[in-house]
Amino acid sequence: MDKMAVKGGNRLNGEVAASGAKNSTLPLMFATLLAEGEHVFTNVPDLLDVTSSRQLLEHLGCETSYKDHTLRIFVRGGKTFEAPYDIVRKMRASILVLGPLLARFREAKVSLPGGCAIGTRPIDLHLEGMKALGADINVEAGYVLAKTSRLQGAKILFESPTVGGTENIMMAAALAEGETFIENAAKEPEIVDLANYINKMGGKVEGAGSSIIRIQGVDRLRAAEHKVIPDRIEAGTLLIAGGITGGEVTVTDCHPADLEALIGKMREAGFKITTDGDSVTVHSCSGWKGVDITTTPHPGFPTDLQAQFMALMCQSQGTSVITEAVFENRFMHVQELVRLNADITPKTRVAVVRGTRGKLTGAPVMATDLRASACLVLAGLVAEGETVVSRIYHLDRGYENMERKLTGLGAQVRRLKD
Ligand code: EPZ
Repeated sequence: MDKMAVKGGNRLNGEVAASGAKNSTLPLMFATLLAEGEHVFTNVPDLLDVTSSRQLLEHLGCETSYKDHTLRIFVRGGKTFEAPYDIVRKMRASILVLGPLLARFREAKVSLPGGCAIGTRPIDLHLEGMKALGADINVEAGYVLAKTSRLQGAKILFESPTVGGTENIMMAAALAEGETFIENAAKEPEIVDLANYINKMGGKVEGAGSSIIRIQGVDRLRAAEHKVIPDRIEAGTLLIAGGITGGEVTVTDCHPADLEALIGKMREAGFKITTDGDSVTVHSCSGWKGVDITTTPHPGFPTDLQAQFMALMCQSQGTSVITEAVFENRFMHVQELVRLNADITPKTRVAVVRGTRGKLTGAPVMATDLRASACLVLAGLVAEGETVVSRIYHLDRGYENMERKLTGLGAQVRRLKD
């Protein structure tokens, strides 16, 4: 398994472009199951999760090709509706085939995704939504078995916002008979991107990005083309990379409006952040305060930037109370940061970070999940000496060529092939 060696001490400076959003690309890929024909997506990031999703779509009878960030998916008419465990277990987002398969074939057999490092990741809200749309749902031998004569529009109220649940129901409702309302819907930009694509396919989705989404079912959808929105989490990670090293970094090809929560917190800590059209710049800063964050659904502080922000707070001149209110176990990176001499006291969902500016020291550490791996690379950028991050396949799941992007900004980062 590859490792990443990071030498600390270099200030990062310059411009770097954000890639397309992983968490938009994945639902868009599965939405293609709603319509036969050739779907074309541009600005698609070159990630392990995209490759895994292609394998699942090919298992379901589709043809896919990927070149120069353009992804083509040809959906045939064949009735294959099983997503097997050995594919789903590698990537939880595979559960997003449930809605499209049920809507198009009125039947689906999808492996339960199982948990992951950051939490149990249940799908009860997905299944309750499908039942509300008229599906018979059974769970047997680790698989969700779903059947329906035809999905019927319904009013669905999520007890708490769920990104995947909102996406799954939106896709299922697109071909249901009648009108569906999703209340307490997730409001992430990736939800809006998916709704825009469903509408390009001939669907009728209104209100995406707000807490009430209305979907008018149609009889048929058709393949279309779409440019994936920029990855706000990668953009935020790169901004923090500039900030933590005291450099000046501009992230281009991104949507500053999608980064408001992070930008607000970095400004509160003392960073000067400027925006200009589709770019955001963090200006050089010699010292910053500790600030508190609580992760919440969009537009709050994103849980996917919590670990990266914690690395930044390790270098602050104060104390930061970090509350992870979305996932129950998303502090796996804390003990690894402590190996780098960080001063962090983790509790159940709260971690108190005491800034030890300039005191991080390099050491071998282990990535446990996608965003934890990014956090450890960021800490390595400022730790004295060398930090070697193992299991960086986690990083490759969600960041396209991170070492090339950081090296281009002046970091000393190299991949160690096992
Ligand atoms: C999406 O996961 C993202 N993944 C995650 O990004 C992100 O952290 C998360 O949304 C929150 O923003 C993709 O988009 C592929 P949720 P998802 O359903 O849809 C609970 C990354 O690093 N819940 O919004 O699985 C759940 O346990 C990944 O890129 C239920 O209880 O997240 C969690 O506590 C990690 N029952 C909370 O809701 C359900 O049926 C939010 O989960 C579904 C969710």
